[in-house]
Amino acid sequence: MFNFEGQVVLVTGSGSPRGMGRIFAQKFAELGAKVVLCDINQEGIDANVKELKAAGYEATGYTGNLTNEDDVNSMVDDIVAKYGRIDVLVNNAGISQKVTVADMTLADMQRIFSVNMFGLFVLTKKVCEVMKKQNYGRIVHLSSVSGKRGGGVFGGAHYSASKAAVLGFSKNLAREVSQYGITTNCVCPGLINTDIWKSMSEEQAKPVIDAIPMGRPGEPEEVAAAIVFLASKEASYITGEEIDINGGSHMD
Ligand SMILES: NC(=O)c1ccc[n+]([C@@H]2O[C@H](COP(=O)([O-])OP(=O)(O)OC[C@H]3O[C@@H](n4cnc5c(N)ncnc54)[C@H](O)[C@@H]3O)[C@@H](O)[C@H]2O)c1
Repeated sequence: MFNFEGQVVLVTGSGSPRGMGRIFAQKFAELGAKVVLCDINQEGIDANVKELKAAGYEATGYTGNLTNEDDVNSMVDDIVAKYGRIDVLVNNAGISQKVTVADMTLADMQRIFSVNMFGLFVLTKKVCEVMKKQNYGRIVHLSSVSGKRGGGVFGGAHYSASKAAVLGFSKNLAREVSQYGITTNCVCPGLINTDIWKSMSEEQAKPVIDAIPMGRPGEPEEVAAAIVFLASKEASYITGEEIDINGGSHMD
């Protein structure tokens, strides 16, 4: 049903070897998009772009730090010089830290927000300039179940707060950019089968799984399916929305 031929899709945080960004980029490539991967991890970007190219897809990689405005602006200028447009932005890059508020420092709080919210803001603002000119755009942000209900296995209150901030940012942005044919939505994954999950012992995993009605973590492909839908032309009347992808672990 969904076709991204002729579209340029930028996925941040797509340099992780077993993270979700790699799977998102693959999915969009399979659906015909020219995919642009970016990450602070150069080795990871090189490997993931190589993999896509070997499969016959059009893929470009950028190494940069999303918290650095110069990196972000030059990457977007470069993409536009190369492809002329950016149709879809998937704000996937994110960091976390397991720490209680009692042990958290202001520097911890600033570090988490600098990537999860401020970096996302800098890139989204710049990409919106491009999307406004083309009068079309789809933005999908990775929030989290922890941004809605707090808690979660891997993050502290700073992580939850940053992911809640993304929800508010997306809704406000929707009010500003709808007139330019741009939609902005969030996905809120619960526990997903990435490296973090694989690193847990059986003893650590049991209570987590017991709290999920579906009795298992989600797969990156299951998050990709919702992102592809929100990024499609077909999702043209959905903006400021969020989709929970959590096996029933949080329902609202
Ligand atoms: N895995 C889960 O269970 C889960 C659940 C809910 C939400 N999420 C969110 O989904 C997204 C992807 O999660 P994941 O598990 O695949 O994570 P991951 O750690 O595998 O991937 C995140 C990527 O972001 C990159 N990154 C970090 N800081 C960066 C920066 N300053 N500039 C550029 N790139 C940077 C990392 O290098 C990494 O490749 C994150 O935003 C995460 O918070 C994950």
